[in-house]
Amino acid sequence: NTKYQAFPPIQLADRSWPGKTITRPPIWMSTDLRDGNQALFEPMSAARKLSMFEMLCEIGFKEIEVAFPSASQTDFDFVRKLVEENRIPQDVTVEVLTQARDHLIRRSFESLKGARRAIMHVYNATAPNFRRVVFNVDRAGCIKIATEAAKLVRECAEAQPETEWVFQYSPETFSSTELDFALEISERVFEIWQPTKERPAILNLPATVEAATPNVYADQVEWMCRNLSNREAIIVSVHPHNDRGTAVAAAELAVMAGADRVEGCLFGNGERTGNVDLVTLALNLYSQGIDPQLDFSRINHIARTAEECTQLPIHPRHPYVGDLVFTAFSGSHQDAIKKGFAAQDPNALWEVPYLPVDPADLGRTYDSIIRVNSQSGKGGIAYLMESAYGLVMPRRMQVEFSAEVQQVMDDTGEEQSAQDIWAIFERAYLSD
Ligand code: KIV
Ligand code: ZN
Repeated sequence: NTKYQAFPPIQLADRSWPGKTITRPPIWMSTDLRDGNQALFEPMSAARKLSMFEMLCEIGFKEIEVAFPSASQTDFDFVRKLVEENRIPQDVTVEVLTQARDHLIRRSFESLKGARRAIMHVYNATAPNFRRVVFNVDRAGCIKIATEAAKLVRECAEAQPETEWVFQYSPETFSSTELDFALEISERVFEIWQPTKERPAILNLPATVEAATPNVYADQVEWMCRNLSNREAIIVSVHPHNDRGTAVAAAELAVMAGADRVEGCLFGNGERTGNVDLVTLALNLYSQGIDPQLDFSRINHIARTAEECTQLPIHPRHPYVGDLVFTAFSGSHQDAIKKGFAAQDPNALWEVPYLPVDPADLGRTYDSIIRVNSQSGKGGIAYLMESAYGLVMPRRMQVEFSAEVQQVMDDTGEEQSAQDIWAIFERAYLSD
């Protein structure tokens, strides 16, 4: 990528600081249709789920958690629809979630009958308060829940050999679990599944509730990566929630710490404060010169479809996608942006000030970049007149005219559009 590059590591006079960066994208897993869906006032209808599924495939997700089929008939029927109507692209693997309970596991396998390839994701909570308060089990009891589920998953998979199965285990509440116990229970599950480098299994490490600074989560993930006995047969996945507002940082640090895969949702939908926002994560990589292998070049379309499916609005300041994120209100910003666009070589690195990425890369236009309100200066006004009406004003005229526009804004207290400013220009210079 010649347009963006990673922020350079710190250079001191005599040496450089060994900073870490992410050098390739993780495996992405969208859980919009499961974790995202279960957190909605009104879960998505089959039609909405399908529209979201098709969009996720278009964006380029190759692993999509489509349902919690043992938890609702709508979810079960949706999985059946995908399989029976042959709606899963060849290069996409669907995933379903199940609790580690006998009848729920059987029902989940039933939902996937006839699927070409699928990930069976089984979980049980492992943190001390869950063991004590919710399940009333000790460590051994908690391991028994996980291992009995793992055995049944293996048996059910053997009974449905037409499907290529991938197994995934989540010690739910991982980030609040004692690390030695998280390792022990995961290893016991993998002893049953016997993954290999050629047929790996997935170990997902959820920050079910984000409870610490992101570096702590990354340390936990790194410790697991270093201590797993059969690391090369395990895909280490992370699943950060955003309770402290640092899920994106947690995911980025976790990838630097060794995680191979990230689970999350578009625009950070998901339980409570949401799952990690996959759009921000992917575009953070993009703006560092790394191809995330997800296509957000029609971000407005993606945003509107997601809003329609979830019935949740996206905040106007949401990174990369919010209505206001390519808008400059202050005059000095407008001036710098105008100079940046004028100086930008299309074949060189992107360096327009105040804009971390070229809005055009996301299918957004420059039109809305410069808006004029009482905080703007002459630079923004001149830029608007030039870009909207082809009017190039000499510098002295810019100063004079901006005073006219300023007066109108002081009088009305309102932001002025390009058309409003053109009308002021006409009144000032073109009428008798
Ligand atoms: O947040 C969580 O722990 C989950 C698991 C079920 C993976 O969603
Ligand atoms: Zn979750």
